Amino acid sequence: MSRPNVKSVAIIGAGAAGAAAAAAFDAEDAFDVIQVFERRETPGGTWIYDPDPAPPAGLKPGKNPPDVDPPLSIPRTLPVALVPSEQTRFDRTPIYDGLTTNVPEIIMSLSDERFAYGPFAPHWVPKQYIQNYFTSHRTDRFLVLNTTVEDVSRHADSWKLTLRRYDAVRKVDVWWAEHFDAVVIANGHYSVPYIPPVPGLEAYIRAFPGRITHSKFYRSAAHHANLKVLVIGNSASGHDITQQLAHSGVVSLPVYQSRRSRNRWDGTSPPAGVAWKPIIASFDPTTGTIHFNDGSALTDIDAVIYCTGYKPSFPFWNSAANGGPLYDYKENRLVDSFQHTFSTRWPRQLGVVGIPRVLTFRSFEYQAIALARLFSGGKELPSAAAMREWEVQRAEKCGREGRTFHTILWDDGETMEWFRWLYEFAGLPGLEGRGRCPPVLTREQRWAYDHVRKYPEPGRGEGQYGCGEEGAMGRGKEKDSAWFI
Ligand SMILES: Cc1cc2nc3c(=O)[nH]c(=O)nc-3n(C[C@H](O)[C@H](O)[C@H](O)COP(=O)(O)OP(=O)(O)OC[C@H]3O[C@@H](n4cnc5c(N)ncnc54)[C@H](O)[C@@H]3O)c2cc1C
Ligand SMILES: NC(=O)c1ccc[n+]([C@@H]2O[C@H](COP(=O)([O-])OP(=O)(O)OC[C@H]3O[C@@H](n4cnc5c(N)ncnc54)[C@H](OP(=O)(O)O)[C@@H]3O)[C@@H](O)[C@H]2O)c1
Repeated sequence: MSRPNVKSVAIIGAGAAGAAAAAAFDAEDAFDVIQVFERRETPGGTWIYDPDPAPPAGLKPGKNPPDVDPPLSIPRTLPVALVPSEQTRFDRTPIYDGLTTNVPEIIMSLSDERFAYGPFAPHWVPKQYIQNYFTSHRTDRFLVLNTTVEDVSRHADSWKLTLRRYDAVRKVDVWWAEHFDAVVIANGHYSVPYIPPVPGLEAYIRAFPGRITHSKFYRSAAHHANLKVLVIGNSASGHDITQQLAHSGVVSLPVYQSRRSRNRWDGTSPPAGVAWKPIIASFDPTTGTIHFNDGSALTDIDAVIYCTGYKPSFPFWNSAANGGPLYDYKENRLVDSFQHTFSTRWPRQLGVVGIPRVLTFRSFEYQAIALARLFSGGKELPSAAAMREWEVQRAEKCGREGRTFHTILWDDGETMEWFRWLYEFAGLPGLEGRGRCPPVLTREQRWAYDHVRKYPEPGRGEGQYGCGEEGAMGRGKEKDSAWFI
């Protein structure tokens, strides 16, 4: 394997993943240039609160980010100042009033600094924490804010990044390019909303403007005063928003919640103020009626909030210049990746932090330290054949188990196994003290993850999680205890 000299590193994104990456790369003391490009005005990523979510965009049933969040057209000559682009980049966040964290802070925070308080902190605590983390590690000197990476293309031995920043004085978009030896992608995956395809839904959205929305654009129950609301989805957003609406005292009751599967917080019957429905069979754009797959219907719904999650988006990845896509939306996974982190095509020039559905900030730390060690020349990845074999085995395993490639389970020890791989790969820093130590995950932290719960799990300890009464859903296999992450 060639060992090119990596001297300059671009990190895309200043959320928790970018914060962990900046600290890890700085600590190696091996790079002349580190820059963290962030399209927002401050670090914080997901945790920045936008009171105005902007009108719902990207509500295209069944469509993936390449359709919903396409690349901008890149100017032929750079630098240049142009009329500002009006295309949405989905840069506002989904944080809503009253949102608290759902992972105990002792294990959610990065290992070398704790949240100000916990265990389940309000949303401004992680935002402040990420900002502080850049400052306390003096990696704030790497930040290039208000700057969107619009294109990443391989040119000879380097990456060309095309960058765009709105100049508010001249009211123009300023475009320019910079070259880097290596790129770390840490751009998050909760920006572009996903809405499943349902018969009649597209026409319904046109027929009843504003009636259909997504949790990305939800801010407060107050915006739904006196309305009859249907929430779709039963993961973290679906559950939390249903609870908020039902307890708000302003929304018309019951709040309907359409569930595809049972979560571990569900009891045998819906909580007060909530009525459960199965999945939607069709929308009738003529009458406004919503039909469910048990034959029932609702005729008077005022607002439908899709809490059906997000898809990662990489509009800046230039597939033509880079010989193929970064992400496969059919398989829902990174292309040519190893250990959810490394690129098998550009082992020392490209890395991705933050894609798996797993314990969040901590995993970013293991990924970032492993990448920093690799790019600084201190480590070798396994052979190309071994990495390919890992990818094939992983795809087969996840296919067999009916889960996505980057969903890493907790209960069967898979998360620990993955952390252990990254931990052992990174190893100790040099004797001179260069590099960060991958953190231990103590018994106390693991205990908190297993036992300190934001929501009670009915029957927990008696082996009967959420055994609901509705036959359509069946009892099914119990979800992993980290399913909601
Ligand atoms: C509503 C909600 C609640 C959540 N609650 C929890 C929780 O309680 N506990 C938990 O552990 N996790 C939670 N998460 C998951 C959360 O996303 C992670 O905790 C974590 O913040 C993700 O960090 P990240 O750095 O990977 O991504 P992000 O926080 O999304 O940061 C990515 C950054 O990249 C920037 N960016 C993107 N594209 C570009 C570009 N082209 N150019 C420049 N900058 C770019 C973005 O502006 C953003 O600042 C929640 C997520 C959501 C949506
Ligand atoms: N801190 C908090 O309290 C909090 C609050 C909100 C969100 N979050 C975080 O935000 C992130 C995203 O969570 P999320 O709940 O928005 O998304 P999500 O976890 O991806 O959940 C998507 C939901 O949509 C359902 N769904 C998907 N496709 C469907 C279809 N075709 N028909 C019917 N239902 C469908 C899923 O059902 P299945 O379950 O059957 O797959 C699931 O309930 C997570 O990291 C989460 O932890 C945290």
